[in-house]
Amino acid sequence: KRPAGAPDKSLARKITKVGVVGAGLMAGQLALLFARRLDVPVVLTDLDQERLDKGVAYVHGEVDKLLGKGRINGDKANHLKSLVSGSLTKDAFSDADFVIEAVFEKMSVKKQVFAEVEAVVSPEAVLATNTSSLSITEMASELEHPERVVGFHFFNPVAVLPLLEIVRGERTDDATLATAFAASKKLKKTAVLCKDAPAFVVNRLLTLFMGEVLSAVGEGTEPEVADRAVAPLGLPMSPLMLLQLVGPAVGLHVAETLHEAFPERFAVSDELAEIVKAGKTEIFAPDFTIDPEVKEILSGGDN
Ligand code: 3HC
Repeated sequence: KRPAGAPDKSLARKITKVGVVGAGLMAGQLALLFARRLDVPVVLTDLDQERLDKGVAYVHGEVDKLLGKGRINGDKANHLKSLVSGSLTKDAFSDADFVIEAVFEKMSVKKQVFAEVEAVVSPEAVLATNTSSLSITEMASELEHPERVVGFHFFNPVAVLPLLEIVRGERTDDATLATAFAASKKLKKTAVLCKDAPAFVVNRLLTLFMGEVLSAVGEGTEPEVADRAVAPLGLPMSPLMLLQLVGPAVGLHVAETLHEAFPERFAVSDELAEIVKAGKTEIFAPDFTIDPEVKEILSGGDN
């Protein structure tokens, strides 16, 4: 069955090579996923050789873990490693038909990246963005072919979480969207089509959870208590652990974008702003386990 809002799949274009801009944690996870599920060459780019080497090394390390777990054999591991390479120049994207960016969450940076990519790829290549909150329409606005831009928002850890938010900008055309949906199917993700609205859908909810737990802590509730209070919801991670996983700076950025768009509905937690200002990448995240009694109720025990 075609996902709600997805165009006819016959419009989808073939993907034979993928470019990933950025070689950070998200980009490395994306490179591995595309290589593994699409079985095509994947080129990573970043600003300097050190970051690039780190990105490629991350992919190789994850491939070794899959091998160690017996999920893939030695030949497959070597094949996957050979598919993923790094390049300092975007010229390596010239024959890529699908390029995804996962660089710093700033509109001007993303626009610049897409302008540079557009200068080297074919007019039909899809430009996808893994942005968690920025406008797809705005990101595409200065390009020669804005119809090829689409939001392709993954969740951390990419290898594990099935959801993919596909975002249609005002000018995204059906062929681009169909290509994005066809790719999501091959990537074995559950794609949902979201409106191009600040932070789409999922991050609006997560921002409230993470911000309000921190506010409760700021008001004097013990962190363990505040963080555990949502346990009965059965989330796989407490809000503070989640904030640690996505990174406080990313969390703050999403909160600020939402506050700007909907000042009455979204506040920026002072506590979060302070954590980021202090340059902390590790926040207090108590060891979070669901009370066995609560777990039984959740699993339909004797409730
Ligand atoms: N990379 C690859 N695989 C990973 C991983 C990672 N970073 N972290 C965990 N895994 C794998 C493990 O290897 C394991 O695989 P296996 O079954 O093949 O051995 C499997 O996931 C389960 O891991 P664990 O047994 O170690 O731990 P848990 O069962 O506690 O699961 C979790 C860990 C999958 C991270 C789970 O806690 C979870 O789903 N947490 C919620 C994460 C979430 O909500 N993410 C959304 C963040 S928001 C976001 O990304 C959007 C952005 O825009 C801000």
